[in-house]
Amino acid sequence: MSQDNKALFIIFGGTGDLAKRKLYPSLFRLFRKGNINKHFAVIGTARREWSDDYFREIVAESIETLHPTKQEINDFTSHFYYQSHNVNDTEEYQVLGTLANRLDEEYQLDGNRLFYLAMAPRFFGTISKHIKSEQIMTETGFSRLIIEKPFGTDYQTAEQLNHEIGAAFKEEQIFRIDHYLGKEMVQNISAVRFGNNIFESLWNHKYIESVQITLAESLGVEERGGYYDQSGALKDMVQNHILQVVSLLAMEPPTIFSEEAIRTEKINALKSVRIYDEQAVKESVVRGQYGQGSLGDHSFSSYRDEPGVEENSQTETFVAAKFMIDNFRWAGVPFYVRTGKRLTEKGTRINIVFKSTPINVFREENDTNTNLPENILTIYIQPTEGFSLTLNGKEIGDGFNIDPVKLDYRHSQENLDNSPEAYEKLILDCLKGDATNFTHWDEVATSWKIVDIIRHTWDKETEQIPNYPAGSMGPKCAFDLLEKEGHKWVWEPDTWYKNKGQLKD
Ligand code: BG6
Repeated sequence: MSQDNKALFIIFGGTGDLAKRKLYPSLFRLFRKGNINKHFAVIGTARREWSDDYFREIVAESIETLHPTKQEINDFTSHFYYQSHNVNDTEEYQVLGTLANRLDEEYQLDGNRLFYLAMAPRFFGTISKHIKSEQIMTETGFSRLIIEKPFGTDYQTAEQLNHEIGAAFKEEQIFRIDHYLGKEMVQNISAVRFGNNIFESLWNHKYIESVQITLAESLGVEERGGYYDQSGALKDMVQNHILQVVSLLAMEPPTIFSEEAIRTEKINALKSVRIYDEQAVKESVVRGQYGQGSLGDHSFSSYRDEPGVEENSQTETFVAAKFMIDNFRWAGVPFYVRTGKRLTEKGTRINIVFKSTPINVFREENDTNTNLPENILTIYIQPTEGFSLTLNGKEIGDGFNIDPVKLDYRHSQENLDNSPEAYEKLILDCLKGDATNFTHWDEVATSWKIVDIIRHTWDKETEQIPNYPAGSMGPKCAFDLLEKEGHKWVWEPDTWYKNKGQLKD
């Protein structure tokens, strides 16, 4: 049921790409559904000098694809105000505070404030400090801080940042965004696990052979070369999104589905992920960078030729790793993960590969070597959402040939259109004060500890890169990582293209 939540949104970085692409459209969807209605106002801030009218035009443009009526545009954008702002200038915070108080009164917001930092992390500390010292936080309503990733660049910088923010906001007021946690099917992982006894009773090392998580992207770095070249796939995707998905898959069932209980279990799971030493990193984690390549009629340039990227860049655009979770449930089960840019297809999916039957009773006599295909539960996160289960059946006809069949449930396009965008969900959660789908400091800290050693090991050595052509599913070492343990990636979107001659072998 929708409810008209009262709040003032102060968006730092209000002229930026994230605000335009994600925040304003998400706010509009919430507005349309009545989750925010009469009692909300938005202040956009950034260095540029913009008028309220110009800001409203930009906001109107950002929601065009949602096909608003003229009336809707006017009603919605009339809640938007712009204040040019230098984040280092104390006096300018006072101006911001005065505007905030005025809007609070005008829209009867009861002092509820949501500060959204959609800017480079180096400003997070100073902004939080000023919000507190210049009393833009209120005593009456709630004051919450939403921050975007990256949260630090390693454990040490993350801790420093947390310390700075913590001087102004308490942990329960801090909402660290990991937009994967807003995705419908990521949230559905818990429903699949804890709502179905047939899965939860098998969810352990006795029945599961391996867990595979793929976050593949077909795009390159687009206009973000400057940022990405400093970050790389490990920090951009593994430290946050991938380890969050790992924790949801690996956690123990919470006693009750509450924010605190879930968080405790996620943190426990992350703390059980083995922290490698350098030797183990070399054996269990591989990286890659894309070179030129083509897929069908499309040719792509190499990463090093992308704008903003150093010509001899060693930055990885691909990571594959085996993580081990040293606890009673998961001992010995590899969690294989991979992510990369310019791969064959965009797709996020999880494959839970179950152990084969102890023996293949359908084998030829004297043939002790055959195994039946494994049962696989696949959770599709995007672009389609849903899940499938691969089971073995009998092929129709003579003899007794086993034929894997797939029970497939994917959401129809209609459902997908209605599926709330990740940011919309997360903003609404934050308005309601529900931090379940945000990352707690302990999770961030533990994730950095897991990836820091990988980064340090890699920084000591150069890799022969580029080592995979754009359009492929990554470097050979990512396939070898599984093969050397008798496993293989379940999802192979490249095979189809190779068979059609559209991708080189
Ligand atoms: C972001 C990364 O966090 O996630 C991007 O910074 C990446 O590099 C993006 O492209 C992927 O998100 P999604 O929702 O498109 O899978």
